Amino acid sequence: MSKQAKLDLNGSAFTLPIVEGSEGEKAIDVSELRAKTGHITLDDGYGNTGSCRSKITFIDGETGILRYRGIPIEELAEKSTFVETAYLIIYGHLPTRAQLKRFSDLLTAHQYLHEDMKHHFVGFPSTAHPMAILSAMINAASCFNPDLMRGGDAGQFDDHAAQLISQVRTIAAFSYRKSRGLPIIYPKEAYKYTANFLHMLFSTPYEDYELKPEVVRALDLIFLLHADHEQNCSTSTVRMVASSHANMFACAAAGVCALWGPLHGGANQAVVEMLEDIHQSGDDGSKFITAAKDKTSGKKLMGFGHRVYKNYDPRAKIIKRACDDLLNVMHIADPLLDIAKKLEEAALLDPYFVERKLYPNVDFYSGIIMRALGIPTEMYTVIFAIGRMPGWIANFKEITDDTKSRIYRPRQVYVGPTLNHYVPLHDRK
Ligand code: ACO
Repeated sequence: MSKQAKLDLNGSAFTLPIVEGSEGEKAIDVSELRAKTGHITLDDGYGNTGSCRSKITFIDGETGILRYRGIPIEELAEKSTFVETAYLIIYGHLPTRAQLKRFSDLLTAHQYLHEDMKHHFVGFPSTAHPMAILSAMINAASCFNPDLMRGGDAGQFDDHAAQLISQVRTIAAFSYRKSRGLPIIYPKEAYKYTANFLHMLFSTPYEDYELKPEVVRALDLIFLLHADHEQNCSTSTVRMVASSHANMFACAAAGVCALWGPLHGGANQAVVEMLEDIHQSGDDGSKFITAAKDKTSGKKLMGFGHRVYKNYDPRAKIIKRACDDLLNVMHIADPLLDIAKKLEEAALLDPYFVERKLYPNVDFYSGIIMRALGIPTEMYTVIFAIGRMPGWIANFKEITDDTKSRIYRPRQVYVGPTLNHYVPLHDRK
């Protein structure tokens, strides 16, 4: 017999089905609660709400586990690449050699933007944040795809997905070049995904950027570690927009906007800005820790805390190690890394952070790697968005493939004024 929860509501008994996930997560299915009882559930910030059933990513925040399609993030970080992992996330299994080649070829085939898109870049002021450009240009790219209709032809999904993953990287590089007043560098067919991005960012018309393997690998790892993270703010936004049957590019553009905020993807930029401020003020981090605990200071220890992880974020562990390795290989001594380590050490011993289970998240060390790679601070969240594209596409696919999927439409508990009436302007006080 299937498991049920019993609800006693003002003396009346109701039963609600219990749903169990493949890793033993349990949920009470309240989808018929309002119809049966006239009540809805209320959950500010959705901290306790499962919005969907998904087969893509599993997180156990209590023990610090993250798996894409069942495969631990540690194994993928060690053995896979971003492109292979993107395939895994989108299609649900590791690709065969032939499948991987086809996917890579599609990414290469779609890497160029329509030449007319270049005019759009000219219209942005040089002060424009690259996340604003990215979101606008993803939508603009959809205008050059008249057939880009949600679900239009299932056979086009592969092309659209590859186009989005490939072009978002070209758009990101172009927006950086534009913001610096530099000439645009086109992608090269011979380069692989991440190498090509570095080439478009840093080559000049006269000289190709020297692609050091450790640099390419470090950035590829950052993309891979960001590739999906189940129902976070931006992915939920993508699913929300997809549920209205908007096209894949429109959904991704909305995801970029959600990711931009400093409480989400924007935290990687905020972390480095925080570390720079601490460094410039001569503080070794201890004054900042005190301020971060004071709710009236308006400060938070950026890169710390997570809605789901109540343990060390497994991605942060991998990134911290990669950060140490990269800076060693590149012979870089970055004072911001020393400050970050001191902050982490102090926070992990401080009762305020311990009691609230606040640990470093993925953003705490990723910015220091990107700084070492010469990537400007305002591009950090863009890098996150490039990495997250496979996850958004996989979530979009899950919605569009589900013939039973309904438009996302939460309810609310109204707490505004009760009925009152229109007062003509001349009678108002
Ligand atoms: N510094 C200081 N205090 C913090 C921090 C922090 N970074 N994070 C949480 N807290 C405190 C809160 O003030 C709260 O204290 P209280 O119980 O005394 O009121 C308690 O810890 C619980 O925090 P919530 O805000 O309820 O946690 P929530 O799950 O809503 O938010 C979030 C999670 C947004 C990540 C939060 O921890 C935060 O703002 N961190 C800094 C920004 C950041 O690093 N964001 C990146 C997240 S990872 C990602 O999106 C890729």
